[in-house]
Amino acid sequence: MTKTGVALLGLGTVGGGTYRILKNNYESIKLNYGVDIEIRHIIEKDMKKVQELGVDGSIVSCDIENVINDPEIKIVAEFFGGIEPAKSYIIKCLLAGKTVVTANKEMFAKYWHELQRAAKKGRAGLYFEASCVGGVPIIRTLTESMQGNNILCIMGIVNGTTNYILSKMADEGLEYKDVLKEAQKLGYAEQDPTADVEGYDSMYKLSILSSLAFHTRVPVDKIYREGISSISKTDIEFGKRFGYTLKLLAIGKRTHDNKIEVRVHPAFISNKHPLAAVKGSFNAVHILGDNVGDIMLYGRGAGDLPTGSAIVSDIVYAAQQRKHEYTSFRNTLSSPSKYFSKDFECEYYIRMTVKDLPGVIASVSSVFGRLKISINSIQQELMGDKAYVIFMLHKTHESAVKKAMSQIEKLSVVESVDSIIRVE
Ligand code: HSE
Repeated sequence: MTKTGVALLGLGTVGGGTYRILKNNYESIKLNYGVDIEIRHIIEKDMKKVQELGVDGSIVSCDIENVINDPEIKIVAEFFGGIEPAKSYIIKCLLAGKTVVTANKEMFAKYWHELQRAAKKGRAGLYFEASCVGGVPIIRTLTESMQGNNILCIMGIVNGTTNYILSKMADEGLEYKDVLKEAQKLGYAEQDPTADVEGYDSMYKLSILSSLAFHTRVPVDKIYREGISSISKTDIEFGKRFGYTLKLLAIGKRTHDNKIEVRVHPAFISNKHPLAAVKGSFNAVHILGDNVGDIMLYGRGAGDLPTGSAIVSDIVYAAQQRKHEYTSFRNTLSSPSKYFSKDFECEYYIRMTVKDLPGVIASVSSVFGRLKISINSIQQELMGDKAYVIFMLHKTHESAVKKAMSQIEKLSVVESVDSIIRVE
């Protein structure tokens, strides 16, 4: 059996997990998959990490040329994250004919076309199972197992940090900022949590997942994005009364006029939906295929060994290929607009604070009525001379809701529109 030379770019959390799996599972990978993996070089400047993992220091350096110039290195796994120097290094490796395996969702979502061009030119493979939902094998499910279906919808909880925060707010009746602070103390959330809590991480993953699901390149700027930082425990509590759980969802849908709708935002889902049972830092992706119906994949979306297991799966898979395949899309990046829907339709939960006076509900309802927005139910909770009123709206266009809210906010009986949450 010939050896497959591998290089690791970085020995952080996922790089370290990958190293440990390649070492611990070396014999079983060789026996079960016929691939003899030899780690030939590691790029890492932190020698503490190198020592902690018991890596032979003679294969460690900070110079990418050591990887490029070794003809025995066939596969390069990248763990730097962010755009640079990851992107330049990866392109260099691909052009040199080395297959690249990466977990770097931001770089992949933004520069997929550029990376794929370099891969084709170098006749190298480009694999990214670990970029979305960590250890959950969603990429290969989409690329290799859905040929008998047109995917109608892909909807997921693809960020563990936000799911942890929302689950804790719901289970313990806590406010967002208190849970975030605690999560940061425990190391579950980053010191700068923006990428997770404002939905950027989910947006990158949705760009990749929906591009594969709909065979249409979905650039990140086509994705509507809203995070969880303005969610209050009051809304989570009201949602419970309606039988709903609040989740940060990444949603890709094919619309009835054959366009693609892509959005990341907090949403209420019925407690009966399988995604409602996904708690804590777990992730899950629900797919609706026109023939198979519903599928759901569930598991750990982050962590050294879960994400490392996806990287190792790509390394083994890549080593087994005689010829690498490249993803093809219906559109090109220069003309994507006609493929995307601009104004999506949803049900809505709207909470406002109003004066407790006769005719208040009538004046608000008349705005909805004039704009042909249909109300599903109204619930009111009195607080002295004020009240919270919650309108649940039937399916309506986002643009109509925005128009209604700008008129409702101007009504003298309405003190504030406190929250607008979509219902899936
Ligand atoms: N920060 C991500 C999460 C994991 O919280 O799920 C890496 O994408």
